[in-house]
Parts: sequence; C-alpha cells; structure tokens
Amino acid sequence: MTKAKKEYPLNQVHRLLQSGPVVLVTTSQKGKANIMAMSWHTVIDSDPPKLGIVLSSDNYSFKILKSTKECVLNIPTLKLAAKAISCGKSSGKDVDKFKTFGFTALPASKVKAPLIGECYANVECKVVDMKMVAEYDLFILEVVKVWIDPVKKRPQTLHHLGGDKFMVAGKVIRV
Ligand SMILES: Cc1cc2nc3c(=O)[nH]c(=O)nc-3n(C[C@H](O)[C@H](O)[C@H](O)COP(=O)(O)O)c2cc1C
Repeated sequence: MTKAKKEYPLNQVHRLLQSGPVVLVTTSQKGKANIMAMSWHTVIDSDPPKLGIVLSSDNYSFKILKSTKECVLNIPTLKLAAKAISCGKSSGKDVDKFKTFGFTALPASKVKAPLIGECYANVECKVVDMKMVAEYDLFILEVVKVWIDPVKKRPQTLHHLGGDKFMVAGKVIRV
C-alpha cells in the first residue's frame, strides 16, 4: 500500500518539474556585456531549434535582450557553481560580472553577445517572437550556433531545486 500523500504548495510546483541545467545568459549592448543566471527555460522545437526563456522585466538583462534580440545561453558545470550563482544575485546595472567573477568573454559567431569561455557549452540565440513578453516575460529564441567542449563526456551540470539547493547531473542509464 502506498503511503498517504501530503499536499504540496502550488507556488513551489516548478521545483518538482524543472529539469534543465542552470544557464548563464549573456547579452551585450554598446560594447558592454552582462551575465545572469537562469533556470526557467524550455525546449520548444528541435529543427529549427527553438527555446522559450522567462526573463523577468525586473532584471537588467531584460531591456538589453528586448532591444538587441540576441543572447547566448552558456552552460556551467559544478566547478563554476559559486561564480554562476553569484551572477544570479547581482545586477549588471551595478557590476561588471565578467571582471568581478573572473569569466572570460569570447566572441560568438552569429550574435554580438559573448560566449563564456569557462562554460561547458554555449548556445547562440536570436529572439524570434516577443508576443508573450508583455504578459509573461516569455521570449522565444531560435538557436543559431552551438559550441561544446569535446573533452567533457559527463558534464556535471547544475539543476536548481529552489533556494540554495542544486542537483548535480550524474548517473546515465539506458532504458
Ligand atoms: C539559480 C538561479 C536561477 C535563476 N533563474 C532565473 C530565471 O529563470 N529567470 C529570471 O528572470 N531570473 C532568474 N534568476 C534571477 C537573475 O539571475 C537575477 O535577478 C540577476 O541578478 C539578474 O541579473 P541582471 O540584473 O544583471 O540581469 C535566477 C537566479 C538564480 C540564482
């Protein structure tokens, strides 16, 4: 017999369903690049590849993305955890996060926003639909180029469980 279930708060349900890795979103405007942490993203289509990201209008990155319509989703791994999370607790309005947290900006090939050199993978994106931005802060992106570190076979990506808790990607199984 299964044990009785207990009710779970509605406003925490995202913690049960969120699965993708924490990404570092880079944007750039007038030569000034910025980084923010993000976990609310989802795959929408595979060919051409499209993603949805929820980027709050409270964030400095919001107005840059809205006007430049370009960004890079950089995927950090465990060894970058502290620095990556710091990018989610400070604003590009006040600090240069590349300098402050010691990240290396590399040129991207199809967008002006930089790649973060230390990240395992870098996904260059262009905004293709902003119809849901006003209501949901939801941007639809098309992926235009992807870079990956060929040496890392089992990247220890970070998966946000809420608050200060993260799950680290681990065991791979075949079913
Ligand atoms: C693990 C983590 C995940 C986050 N996910 C999101 C997200 O999905 N969308 C969002 O708008 N902000 C998210 N944030 C908050 C932003 O990263 C944070 O507000 C940041 O300071 C914004 O930086 P900016 O003002 O330089 O753009 C997240 C923060 C952390 C630590």
